[in-house]
Amino acid sequence: MRPYDGARTEGQPARDRELVIAISELKLVKDEWEIAQLQDAVDATVRGFEDVARALPADRAVSERLLEGIFALRARHDGNDVGYGSIIGAGEHATILHWVHNHGATRPGELLLMDMGVEGRNLYTADVTRVLPVNGRFTPLQRQVYDAVYAAQQAGIDIIKPGVAFKDVHLTSMRVLAEALSDLGLLPVSVDEAMDPASTVYRRWTLHGTSHMLGIDVHDCSNARKEMYRDGALGEGYVLTVEPGLYFQPEDELVPEELRGIGIRIEDDVLVTATGAVNLSAGLPRRSDEVETWLAAQREAGPRLPG
Ligand code: GLY
Ligand code: MN
Ligand code: MN
Repeated sequence: MRPYDGARTEGQPARDRELVIAISELKLVKDEWEIAQLQDAVDATVRGFEDVARALPADRAVSERLLEGIFALRARHDGNDVGYGSIIGAGEHATILHWVHNHGATRPGELLLMDMGVEGRNLYTADVTRVLPVNGRFTPLQRQVYDAVYAAQQAGIDIIKPGVAFKDVHLTSMRVLAEALSDLGLLPVSVDEAMDPASTVYRRWTLHGTSHMLGIDVHDCSNARKEMYRDGALGEGYVLTVEPGLYFQPEDELVPEELRGIGIRIEDDVLVTATGAVNLSAGLPRRSDEVETWLAAQREAGPRLPG
């Protein structure tokens, strides 16, 4: 192959870059057909979570990979594939953000975090996270942390409408999490001081941003200019995730022992409408008591194969 001499492609890389940016920004607004594709992917994802819950024993260990495989079967049957490597984090594995080894096992009494999405036949993907109490009931401490993450997520969803700054969804959720961390006695400063951009000390336990765009890519529109996306405002037809979390590493000596190894994230796929937001993944319950009821109902129904 001839070495690149640059002669006939002068300027080409910059033009390519402009095209990539333009396409990324055009993808911010989803049309009706795209929204239907995303809803299809989400609906298949809901069925996949149900399949997994139906096969999850309350009283004995089961491998993370078995659960990964059950979801993958649903993804291949109802869609094209999984949209990204499924994260099946039992117990302390939930505190590792992109835990895709999935070589652990569930334990009754612990939590199970699952971040999974079906990619539909037209390649649009869902991106959903739920946390289940393996034995069917959250302990009081697990529930306290779970409910704080739920409140943070709901607060973020509640402000979504056209014109709202993308980063305000994140900051709204983070304030609720900072308040929860303060209630747990963990914040070394006041909530207001923690929210100061010069501090953000809460990030030790929140680890990541609350939202990203979703579409044909799981992290859609990632080449859009900052002012159009990260520093921009939401518009009608945007679809974004809202996924706050709290993570207490097993070796974190700044938290009481009973919190160590708990990782909780709740993630939903949200469409911005003319006046607010629609949660496309509302087919999976999020509130702690509703999660318990849903899990019990899945177990009652028993295992099933797609079809
Ligand atoms: N599943 C990847 C993410 O939540 O962004
Ligand atoms: Mn996500
Ligand atoms: Mn996810």
